[in-house]
Amino acid sequence: MEKLIFGNLKMNFNQKETNLYLEKLIPLVKDCKNKIALFVPDVYLMPCSQKLAATNIKLGAQNVSYFKNNGPTGEISAKMLKDYCKMVLVGHYDRKKYFSETTEQINQKIKNLLECGLKIVLCVGETKSERVGKRTKTAVEKQVSECLRGLYENELNNIIIAYEPIWAIGSSAAATLTQIQEGTDAIRNAIKTDFSETASKKIKILYGGSVDYANAGIILPCKNINGMLLGKTALSAAEFAKICSL
Ligand code: PGA
Repeated sequence: MEKLIFGNLKMNFNQKETNLYLEKLIPLVKDCKNKIALFVPDVYLMPCSQKLAATNIKLGAQNVSYFKNNGPTGEISAKMLKDYCKMVLVGHYDRKKYFSETTEQINQKIKNLLECGLKIVLCVGETKSERVGKRTKTAVEKQVSECLRGLYENELNNIIIAYEPIWAIGSSAAATLTQIQEGTDAIRNAIKTDFSETASKKIKILYGGSVDYANAGIILPCKNINGMLLGKTALSAAEFAKICSL
């Protein structure tokens, strides 16, 4: 079954490095059957959209303002992003940790993006202490519920959820299959409660957090996982391409 392999380049490459990276990646993945997407910094959306136009790599933005129009200095709205990409990452732990993003703000971002016809990758995940304290289910369900509050069920067709346990992001160890099952069950359960059983079965879920070639080979074939969201590993075009080819 076709999977989604998404890479988040975060704040790593300048324009020249991004070009070199894409020049390496494009030929390596051109025959891959999986769906590939890269999330790049806003300043590179325009050049990347041109470079990726005739390829099988989709383009996404890493963030969006929760303001709609006439927003404050330095912000970028959903309407602006729509000129260059079709998909936006929302609720990544980096944004929560460094910019104190709340689930109310994430919910507003999602609504603004949906209004503009953009697709969304929503990240959720529990902290280490929530995991240790056996509060994963409650924590993940709460995040999903608050982030998707007020949406219509059909709008979920434009949303993919990335289960990213916070303790696994940028660490040396990905979650185990049992832990992933627990997280994805919590996501589906929240959707079942707030929307419907059909919606809970239909929603696409990615796993993210210290994915590498070795663990991707184990996690990706899981039935409850529709793909992966990669950070560090995606920074190597060769490594990313290997996972895209799984
Ligand atoms: P990682 O990052 O793959 O480096 O753990 C994942 C992420 O930040 O989404």
